[in-house]
Amino acid sequence: MKKIKLSPSALACNFANAGIQIEQAKAGGAEYLHLDVMDGIFVPNISFGQPVVKSLSKCTDLVLDVHLMIDEPIRYIDDFVKSGADIITVHAEACDDIKATIMKIKEAGVKAGLSVKPKTDITTITEYLPLLDLVLVMTVEPGFGGQKFMGDMLPKCEFLRDYAALHNLDYEISVDGGVSAENARLCVNAGANVLVAGSSVLGKEDIKSAAIELLAAANNGD
Ligand code: DX5
Ligand code: ZN
Repeated sequence: MKKIKLSPSALACNFANAGIQIEQAKAGGAEYLHLDVMDGIFVPNISFGQPVVKSLSKCTDLVLDVHLMIDEPIRYIDDFVKSGADIITVHAEACDDIKATIMKIKEAGVKAGLSVKPKTDITTITEYLPLLDLVLVMTVEPGFGGQKFMGDMLPKCEFLRDYAALHNLDYEISVDGGVSAENARLCVNAGANVLVAGSSVLGKEDIKSAAIELLAAANNGD
């Protein structure tokens, strides 16, 4: 089984103290840092863009896991690579040409991820799975932190896990939205190995302890 990785979402940070808070999450075992870029068009919210990604890339050595919730992300891949992204995940629903967008990410020398919103059937992206380094299953409607985890999305993780085993593929399976110590083990049991967590880690008073607790819950039973 793949190592479980925690990817705290910076959306839950106090950006005035982001550097310190991210270090606390790292001290608690986080390996990735999830950066939610929202354009107010693909999702009904605006978050931050390249300057913030660039600043954070300079203050941490965590793997920058950039989640683009923007329309036609192919336009901005080079910018986010220059800003320090290590993994770029785009939404299937936001791309006119999904394959071209994935290839653009890979050709830019970073890892490529593809995400689906809750209402999108996971089998609609089957043909792209052999090209991917990561598949991100949304467990809330994208756009906002702090929403309730949708447990009925977990069969998508099971599908992805079984498909990878059957076809000898090696992508990571990430879950994003409402992930906490209460449901982390369910996610892992369904095949997820990257746990994105905003409110339940960087949104907490004691960030390091929250990260430790979430990872302990996720690994419980192994
Ligand atoms: C939602 C974002 C998530 C969000 C997670 O659109 O993609 O990454 O920051 O936040 P929580 O963990 O609070 O649901
Ligand atoms: Zn996200």
